[in-house]
Amino acid sequence: MDKRPESMKRIDNAELALAFIDEQIAAIREQVGDKKVLLALSGGVDSSVVAALLIKAIGKNLVCVHVNHGLLRKGEPEQVIEVFRNQMDANLVYVDAVDRFLDKLAGVTDPETKRKIIGAEFIRVFEEEARKLSDIEFLAQGTIYPDILESKGVKAHHNVGGLPEDLKFKLVEPVKLLFKDEVRVVGKALGLPDNMVFRQPFPGPGLGVRCTGAITRDRLEAVRESDAILREEFAKNGLAGKVWQYFTVIPDLKSVGVSYEGERTFGYPVIIRAVNTVDAMTATVEEVPYSLLNKITDRIVKEVEGVNRVLFDLTPKPTGTIEWE
Ligand code: XMP
Repeated sequence: MDKRPESMKRIDNAELALAFIDEQIAAIREQVGDKKVLLALSGGVDSSVVAALLIKAIGKNLVCVHVNHGLLRKGEPEQVIEVFRNQMDANLVYVDAVDRFLDKLAGVTDPETKRKIIGAEFIRVFEEEARKLSDIEFLAQGTIYPDILESKGVKAHHNVGGLPEDLKFKLVEPVKLLFKDEVRVVGKALGLPDNMVFRQPFPGPGLGVRCTGAITRDRLEAVRESDAILREEFAKNGLAGKVWQYFTVIPDLKSVGVSYEGERTFGYPVIIRAVNTVDAMTATVEEVPYSLLNKITDRIVKEVEGVNRVLFDLTPKPTGTIEWE
């Protein structure tokens, strides 16, 4: 059943979330019995909620695979391991595929080609891990209702469609009738940490589309560090829950600067983007207080290796897209 029944209540409180969790645990047990289920766990809210539901329902019969492609934000792979392996005692396979992805992406400048390489390599890594495991019959996915409604959208990223024929599993999709805000309420009721449940949207190709042009390790590290500083300062100053999406970008260019010691530098600029939107089709720019922008600039130029300038993107959508690539 892929259509949300008219009678289905909007899950907007803990009580309804707990009832949903109980229902889904029963439904999952009924569907999969004592068979094993595989899940690609990115650490995003949807796959995390699906993981937590399945852990409650079938424990170690859920095999979570977390692929670190090197394009995740600072602290994310560590948090997945901490929350799911250490706290929830999940059966978690952690795959360090950083070199593999970065080698494949080396020298690739076209944004759509970069996206394709990241998507295809992800499927390949996941397929390899799936083949190492035996007797898996089911694949769990964090499909949510908007993915079904917009299934023609190119950005549907909640599936590992593209697996070869002999790896076609039966699907387990416990949150497929939920809207994003409902998934968050369920995540909270499942005890997932707030910074996982209330995360801002993060594109599938991750930091790969925020390090424009050919991805280099130095710019990738700089974009990861500057993004972490921005997120920390937004959280400290009450903007984290208020602004829809905020991140940094490092374009593939250098400019001349001068160090505190008076030496000439030749470094990268960091661009800050902070936008608000309802549906991501149009967006307006958040009016970040100047004093906070100054504080963030000061921290980034002092703390991030190779960066000598910080810029703020004033462009609404249209004409700028939210991401730079
Ligand atoms: P744009 O840049 O098109 O972004 O204004 C609109 C929203 O979509 C996200 N986005 C992506 N999400 N894969 C994703 O999963 C992608 O390739 C991708 N590109 C953009 C973007 O972060 C914003 O929330």
